[in-house]
Parts: sequence; structure tokens; C-alpha cells
Amino acid sequence: MEVHETIGSTNDRARELLRSGDEGVAVVAELQTAGRGRRGRTWTSPPGRNLTVSVAYRPMLAAADAWQVACAVAVAACEACRTVADVRLKWPNDLVVEDGRKLGGILVETAIDGDRLADAVIGIGINVNWPREEMPAEIERATTSLLDASGRRVGRAELLTALLGALDDGLAAIEQRSSPLERYRELCTTIGADVTVDLGDRTLHGTAVGLDAQAGLVVVTERGQVAVTSGEVVRVRPLVGDAEAATGGRAP
Ligand code: BTN
Repeated sequence: MEVHETIGSTNDRARELLRSGDEGVAVVAELQTAGRGRRGRTWTSPPGRNLTVSVAYRPMLAAADAWQVACAVAVAACEACRTVADVRLKWPNDLVVEDGRKLGGILVETAIDGDRLADAVIGIGINVNWPREEMPAEIERATTSLLDASGRRVGRAELLTALLGALDDGLAAIEQRSSPLERYRELCTTIGADVTVDLGDRTLHGTAVGLDAQAGLVVVTERGQVAVTSGEVVRVRPLVGDAEAATGGRAP
């Protein structure tokens, strides 16, 4: 493990490690000056409060199984958070609480080499002891932390240990051909919800009825059934009242 007081992005450092031949290293930072989330968003996290960690991983997997990495990581991060509070997954890989507020996110960046998955940078950000009243106004409405979800301060070292342990188990399991899909399905609150899926160039409305064999979200729309693959960059928002507030759709 590498621990940095300040770094640009732990994902970039993990990528550097993979390039120089290292693997299996967890890069932890107190403060990221260029932390990033999915869809080009910024990931904001004040020092000393949360977990921002990236793991440099060289899996024994086929490129066709790349979806399993993100799925296994989502399950592992969720399980680690569930040692503290009732945390669930919002498809594809947001960590949320019951009211839909987001407390963590996952950014997996993979490299493909022919039909093999060459490597993966697994980036995880979890809001741990960051009270909502201290969050910037623009994210506070849709965001929460384990502190607010559980009502108590959470040991970050213990949480990191639980997270890395769960990751180790989850990644070993997929390399041994054990699929994370069933557990993912159990933890995913999106299934059964009315959703708006932002596909970038268009928007899809419907009811999420399940997952396909590669963890794609199956949505029943007015025009029929569509499977939104996990490879696409999408956002899902339950259609209840103020959608943005309900989902934690913006990265904290
Ligand atoms: C998202 O929900 O948009 C994904 C957020 C991922 C944030 C983590 S924090 C550690 C790692 N380093 C980064 O720059 N991003 C990820």
C-alpha cells in the first residue's frame, strides 16, 4: 500500500504503477487535487474525512469478462460499507442509502489487449466521516456519508481493511469463475424502479426490470425492452419528485 498526503488522482498513480510493472498495490490519499468521477465529473473529498483509494490490478480475465470487475468491485465496496450502515447499489455502481443519497462511487479504468483484459485501475471514493452540513451546497442535497447514515464516527482504517479484504475476495472469486451477479442483483435498488437513463446522446424512460447476463440494466420502455449495457456511460434516476435529489446523481 502507498499512502499519500496529497496527490493528483489515485487512479493516475495506480495507472503509473501498472505501467512500471507493479500490481496489487493500493494507493490511498488524504487529498486528491484532481480526483475524478465518471462522465468527466470532479470527485470532491476533503482531507482527513473520507476514503479515496485506487488499486492497480492485473486480472486473469478475458476482455469479454471485463464487466465482472466493475460488478465485483461494486459488491465489495457495498459489503464493506454494510459493516457500518444499510448501504445499497444504484446501477451501475453508486453506493447509496435508502433515501437515494449517494455516499460513494467507483471508477474502473480498464485496458484491453486483444481478447484479454490487460489491466484495471479500480478507483473507489467513500464519504466516511464527512457530515452533510460541511458539504458544499451544490452536492449536499444529493449526498451523504457513513457518518450521517450510521449516526456515528467510523474508523477509516477498519473500513479500508474491510474494503481491501472484500476486494481481494471478490476479485479472486471472478478469476475462479464465480460470478458476482447474483449478489449484485440483491444489493441493487434500481431494479423495480421507474428510471430515466441518460445515454449521453439520448434519454430513456421506463421501468428497470432486471439485469442481463453481463449486468446490463434491462428497462421496459413504451417501445419495448432495452438492455443498457454496463459498458455504456449512463446514469439512472428514479422518477420520484426531485430526481436529482433522489439519486445522488452528481458525484460528491
Ligand atoms: C463516480 O461516482 O463518479 C466515481 C467516483 C470515483 C472517485 C474515486 S476517489 C479514488 C479514485 N481516484 C479518482 O480520481 N477517482 C476515484
